[in-house]
Amino acid sequence: MSRIAYVNGRYLPHADAVVHVEDRGFQFADGVYEVCEIWNGQIVDMTRHLDRLARSLNELSMDWPVERRALTMILRETIRRNRVKDGLVYLQITRGQARRDFSFPKGKVPPTLVVTARSSDPKAALKVGEEGISVITTPDIRWERVDIKTVSLLPQVLAKEKAVRAGAKEAWMFDKDGFVTEGASSNAWIVSQDGTLITRPAEKGILRGITRAAIMDYAAANGITVEERPFTIEEAKAAREAFITSATMTASPVVKIDDSVIGNGAPGSIVSDMRARFHEAVEKLALSVY
Ligand code: PDD
Repeated sequence: MSRIAYVNGRYLPHADAVVHVEDRGFQFADGVYEVCEIWNGQIVDMTRHLDRLARSLNELSMDWPVERRALTMILRETIRRNRVKDGLVYLQITRGQARRDFSFPKGKVPPTLVVTARSSDPKAALKVGEEGISVITTPDIRWERVDIKTVSLLPQVLAKEKAVRAGAKEAWMFDKDGFVTEGASSNAWIVSQDGTLITRPAEKGILRGITRAAIMDYAAANGITVEERPFTIEEAKAAREAFITSATMTASPVVKIDDSVIGNGAPGSIVSDMRARFHEAVEKLALSVY
């Protein structure tokens, strides 16, 4: 089945789904995005994702391309047209198409809106749950506004490539004081010996992950303590468990950081439980198309 993408008001086969050469997303990475999980025919935590999108747009003085309700319908329709039951929906908004000039375009330039959806590989997810993943560590070389979910992702592209070349799945970035900030495309967590979940506060230095928030809800509902504080790579290597969270990986166990094995090298029980029961804690919007 050919994949369909939404581009500025039209649903198009991927081969025809293009934006202009002078789109500001292409030339300046002047755009924002969101990725939502689709689970069992439902969109996960869409309200929170769209709230974060509203914040990203506002921080960059960008307009909504369409109203929020219309965007919801476009997301659902793109998922439906691609027949995705488990996977992800991606949306990107840029400041639109204009003659190349660093400052914002003068006059009314409509933002560009692109939406794609794709199915995930259930076998790959099963493997991650059973075996866990390895991460490497690398300096965080990003700008200060990583709280905004922009498409300006080159540092993360380089970090992820370094991870892949080392045979790992994710890169944990660390700040100049040696504290872990987050993964290239996920939030970073450790579990202390007494079973407390530890993750960096979202005020500065990381993206406030939607999956991170869902894990906090899960923890609160299950009597698990969460401590929001920075942790070093050394502390992470000595932790009882470690894991990452993101819309595409839910909660995924980390079993190795650089050359250090975490715990006994198998996914820990706390993260495994969370992964199995994760969807209890989230908002699920039925697509009602299957
Ligand atoms: N990335 N931190 C960074 C830098 C991210 O790029 C992401 C998500 C997260 C986790 O956020 P959430 O739980 O809302 O997905 C944290 C998405 C999945 C991506 O770029 O594909």
